[in-house]
Amino acid sequence: MDDAWPAYYDALAGREPRPLLARAMTVTGPPSADDHAVDLGCGDGTEAAALAAAGWRVLAVDGSADGVRRTRALLEALVAEGRVEPHRVEARRAELSAVDLPASRLVLSCFALPFADDLAAAWAGARGALVPGGVLAVTIFGDRDDWTGEPGVTTVTRAQLEEMLDGLEVLELDEAEEDRPTALGVAKHWHTYEVLALRPPR
Ligand SMILES: C[S@@+](CC[C@H](N)C(=O)[O-])C[C@H]1O[C@@H](n2cnc3c(N)ncnc32)[C@H](O)[C@@H]1O
Repeated sequence: MDDAWPAYYDALAGREPRPLLARAMTVTGPPSADDHAVDLGCGDGTEAAALAAAGWRVLAVDGSADGVRRTRALLEALVAEGRVEPHRVEARRAELSAVDLPASRLVLSCFALPFADDLAAAWAGARGALVPGGVLAVTIFGDRDDWTGEPGVTTVTRAQLEEMLDGLEVLELDEAEEDRPTALGVAKHWHTYEVLALRPPR
């Protein structure tokens, strides 16, 4: 895991939480006191802080020391404001495909799983963390994305994704392609899948 991400966080400084998070929380409804949410590849911590502010117990995971530092700062600010109890939030530096996750009612991962050392293992970990009725909310890259074949990036075909989702109830599977610069201003063809899926409630 290198730490090439601070420039990305800086470019997106002050951003709003990803819209996928709000849609996921519409599906889950408000958390009960013990409900865990995990953010895999939390980056600067924007979504982790929004989850904590919404009352979830939060584990935010990222491989970037800088990302974890930024996430901790956002979570500690919520604690300092008296909005969140400190034992209910954690930002942990870890590899996405080798992290122990709590049983969770929401597993979120935006634009991060394609960078896991082992996407299949990270996906299995994310799915395995879901409690019955839990929600998986992810954005990953499709095989026509410009980064397909780049070292350290795993993209998937639609058929592969559908296989990865087998056994879950798919609520949304939005596929998008567009030419748009990256956060750092580099021209790119994006091919993304945004998924909301539910582990059947038994
Ligand atoms: C494109 S950023 C997305 C950050 C945030 N989720 C967002 O939506 O802006 C990808 C994040 O995944 C993290 N990441 C990349 N590869 C990783 C790995 N193998 N293990 C853990 N985290 C990783 C990076 O540090 C970075 O914060």
